[in-house]
Amino acid sequence: MNKPLTIALPKGRLLDSVVEYLSARSVNLEFGSRQLTAVDSSGKFKFYKVKNHDLPTYVHHGIAGLGIVGDDTVIESGYRFTQIMNLPFGKTRLCIAGIKGSPSPEDLSGNVTVATSYVKMTRDWFHSRGIPVKIIKLAGSVELAPVLGLAPYISDLVETGSTLKANGLEVVKEIKSINVRLIANPAYYKLHYREIRELSDIMSRKV
Ligand code: PRP
Repeated sequence: MNKPLTIALPKGRLLDSVVEYLSARSVNLEFGSRQLTAVDSSGKFKFYKVKNHDLPTYVHHGIAGLGIVGDDTVIESGYRFTQIMNLPFGKTRLCIAGIKGSPSPEDLSGNVTVATSYVKMTRDWFHSRGIPVKIIKLAGSVELAPVLGLAPYISDLVETGSTLKANGLEVVKEIKSINVRLIANPAYYKLHYREIRELSDIMSRKV
C-alpha cells in the first residue's frame, strides 16, 4: 500500500467540524488524549493537529502535503498553495468594527488606528483605498481594544456577531468573506495527484 497522504488540521474551533465532515464520508480519525498525529481507519490518510497559524508553514515546507484551513490564515502567511476545494463549513467574514455608532473609517480624514490579528489583509484593505492606517497587532480577544481605549477600531473575524454584540461593538465595514479550503503544497500535489484526487472525490460526496 502507498504511504498515507499527510494532512494538517487546525486545532481549535474548526477541528470538530473537519472531523465530523470526514467521518460522515467514512474517513474516521481519532486523536488520542494529547496526541497530535492520527491515521484514519483505512490507513490512507495521516493527520497532524497543528496550531492554526502554523498550518501554512507545515504545508509550505512539505511536512504535511495537504491542509484544511481558512483563507484568512493562508493570506496572512504570504505562502502560495494549490487550492483544491472549498469546504461548506467554517464560513466567516473579516470585518472592521467599532463601538456602536462609529463612522465608517472611509469617512474619516486622517490616520485610522485599528487593532487586529490580521495585519496583512487589514493593511491591504486600507492601502488599496488610499486611507492612512496605523495597525496595532494583537494575538486575540481584540474586541477589548475599543472598549479599553487601545484603538477605536478592530478588524476581526465575525461569525455569529455575538462577541461583538456582547462587547457593545458593531460591524462598520466588511473587508472579506472567508472560506475554509483544502490546500496542497504545489510540489506534493503534482507528485500525489491521483491519491489527492481520490481524497477530493471523497470530500465532495453529498451525504
Ligand atoms: C474569533 C474572532 C472573534 C470571534 C467571532 O475568535 O476573533 O473574537 O471568534 O465569533 P462570533 O462572531 O461567532 O462571536 P476566537 O474564538 O477564534 O478566539 P480569539 O479571540 O483568540 O481570536
